[in-house]
Amino acid sequence: MRLLVTGGAGFIGSSFVRRRLAATDDEIVVLDKLTYAGNRQNLAECEVQPQLANRFRFVLGDICDAPLVQDLVADADAVINFAAESHVDRSIMDAEAFLRTGVIGVHTLLEAVRRATDGRGRRFVQVSTDEVYGDKPDGYSHEGDALRPRSPYASAKAAGELLVHSYHVTHGIDALITRGSNTYGPYQHPEKVIPLFITNALDDQPLPLYGDGRQERDWLFVDDHADAIGFILDRGAIGQTYNIRGTGQLPNREVTARILSLVDRPWSLVRRVPDRPGHDVRYAMDGTRLEQLGWRPSVGFDDGLARTVAWFRDNTDWWRKAKSGDWLDYYESQYAWRLANSADA
Ligand code: NAD
Ligand code: DAU
Repeated sequence: MRLLVTGGAGFIGSSFVRRRLAATDDEIVVLDKLTYAGNRQNLAECEVQPQLANRFRFVLGDICDAPLVQDLVADADAVINFAAESHVDRSIMDAEAFLRTGVIGVHTLLEAVRRATDGRGRRFVQVSTDEVYGDKPDGYSHEGDALRPRSPYASAKAAGELLVHSYHVTHGIDALITRGSNTYGPYQHPEKVIPLFITNALDDQPLPLYGDGRQERDWLFVDDHADAIGFILDRGAIGQTYNIRGTGQLPNREVTARILSLVDRPWSLVRRVPDRPGHDVRYAMDGTRLEQLGWRPSVGFDDGLARTVAWFRDNTDWWRKAKSGDWLDYYESQYAWRLANSADA
């Protein structure tokens, strides 16, 4: 197959591209705007290793650019859309880019798929998130549940999903939606909690734990997430939505304690800081539908976390670069006031 992978220079998209190129004969074109979160270094092995490089091409561009997107979609058999602004805290500071990429960008991709008129159907996979269900104080979210997003990020993702669904129903597009849970692993931008806490701890800097730290997430290793999306691309039913659950349903305090143990740093680095506004306390999804199709996650949380810590220890240049330039202003505006109002955790 010839795949168009949008947002393929980011965290999960680049894992998908690296693994898919290595495991199949597919040709892959990555379209990525290289926002602060995109990094071409994440795809270096695809550009350097000859057996991958001859089936790989990188295009710098925006999924909102209709003429560019139409050209690329015309050459593809399937489109997998990872492109998004992905950090909840940034969506609280300014949501506009989230809506532009998450709604207009998704619409631009869908229109290009609809307008490709050579008689070949093109599969469209929208990579979405468990956050569209909103807070789940108990029980598990199923694919048919109502969408109750509570942050601007989650609302943009839900809006994108609704648009995809409408193009499937109205225009008959072969579209699928995946809802992955909290993902962690190598190459994750250090704005997210696991890499932030690993890298801060390695530098003996405070770990800013929001509120009481009892919020729960279900952690999914990045390669598992990428493989699940590939599996759904190959075997998912047209028009269907699939939850991709993780293997580690844990409160943030426990995740923090395990990170500190792996990097051999004391709990005294942890600071209780003012909470995220509208903070969803718990996400938890039922994964039966995808299990019945034949896929389940394989990397346990302790194994995945140990691999992640080892990667960040070995790749300090990568994350020090991500934690430079614009990062310094971001960190200052997000955390200076929080740390000034912090307490022992
Ligand atoms: P990321 O922020 O690491 O990567 C996003 C990528 O999209 C970057 O390479 C960025 O440059 C690119 N991009 C952004 N706007 C673009 C635009 N307008 N045109 C082209 N490229 C653009 O994100 P991630 O964590 O890898 O997440 C990938 C997808 O998976 C997102 O859609 C996200 O909502 C979803 N998701 C993430 C998680 C998670 O825990 N990280 C969990 C479930 C779902
Ligand atoms: O659930 C899937 C979602 O997971 C994805 O759709 C998002 O793209 C991804 O960013 C992630 O969202 P979260 O908001 O859950 O991830 P984050 O790493 O920002 O936060 C995880 C938990 O840790 C959450 O309860 C907030 C808390 N946290 C986060 C940060 C950044 C802290 O306590 N301190 C922090 O500094």
